[in-house]
Amino acid sequence: MSGVWTAMGLLAAVATTSLAASPAPKPSVAHAPFGRAGNEAVELYTLTNAHGVEVQVMTYGATLVSIKTPDRTGRLANIILGFDTLQPYLAGVPYFGATVGRYANRIANARFTLDGKQYELSRNDGPNSLHGGSRGFDKRIWQVEPSPGKSAATLRMKYVSAAGEEGYPGELTAHVSYRLSDDDRLVIEYSATTTAATPVNLANHAYFNLTGDPHQTILGHVLTIDASRFTPVNSTLIPLGELRPVAGTPFDFRTPMAIGSRIAADDEQLRLGHGYDHNWVLEPAAGHEVRLAAVLTDPTSGRSLEIRTTQPGLQFYSGNFLDGKPAGHGTVFPYRTGLCLETQHFPDSPNQPAFPDTILRPGQRYSATTVLRFSVQK
Ligand code: GLA
Repeated sequence: MSGVWTAMGLLAAVATTSLAASPAPKPSVAHAPFGRAGNEAVELYTLTNAHGVEVQVMTYGATLVSIKTPDRTGRLANIILGFDTLQPYLAGVPYFGATVGRYANRIANARFTLDGKQYELSRNDGPNSLHGGSRGFDKRIWQVEPSPGKSAATLRMKYVSAAGEEGYPGELTAHVSYRLSDDDRLVIEYSATTTAATPVNLANHAYFNLTGDPHQTILGHVLTIDASRFTPVNSTLIPLGELRPVAGTPFDFRTPMAIGSRIAADDEQLRLGHGYDHNWVLEPAAGHEVRLAAVLTDPTSGRSLEIRTTQPGLQFYSGNFLDGKPAGHGTVFPYRTGLCLETQHFPDSPNQPAFPDTILRPGQRYSATTVLRFSVQK
């Protein structure tokens, strides 16, 4: 394997200095067995573009396992937290790179009422239901489907969630596709249909560390979030219902700010979140447009990540629960060595009528798109 990475590093170095002159490799998708989850085989897919940018996705959880992008010298490194074997994922990691659903984020007291009927969900986060419950979409095997179009490296996956699974009504057929384009964009598209009315909120839970070194903290990363309001939370991280202006608070990222610059500020919301673990309110774009949500840069490596989305919310989580304690499989996740920028609907929307609606009904199609664009600042 290491021979392959070296060759890709060289390709990437050539690509950043002289794009036109280098003989561009074709975008490709390769796959290999990645182990077994119980009786089921798990596959690892590798998407590569003409610059040598490489994205790995496994069928367990439709999970982003690695994203390798060049730094300003052309050196490729993995910019998300992940493992090169399946075992640590099965032993339990906090949603590294996973597709979370049926409802990403929290639902208060693990219950909601829909069309006059109360539903009890699986309770896996204090009193609340988090990321779909005890066995959400991140712990299910997704089926790979043929993907249309040959111009980009594309992987399309499907998961059928049974009616009643984790307490949710209706059989939900969910699709996620990952498309890596030659202009260094990873386009993530979600869609879903249902047999009965149900809340739906699908998101990716990658932890970014643009240094490429998972032992360094993300506190020096510089973040911009294009939002003037956020949803303050209570002590179990459920929104209070208020859309609070960020102006004059440590939540104002409308201009680029180092994540560590205000994270220890004397602020009640930072105390409740143990740092940043909040939803920002993205102003809706016209129609179903993919609008700018956030830009993250690492001044040391020069790597930059731009995030665009059709979603109304962005959960910025600064890795506060990566606490340096050994996980079940002996691995340690040092404190704040990864951060999540989860494009999604607002937390607890099924219980908050003023929030954008998350209910999908039979005959309707849920769809959402998020685009990650990788670049370097010289
Ligand atoms: C989400 C939540 C966090 C935490 C992580 C997983 O991002 O907002 O509070 O639960 O997932 O550890």
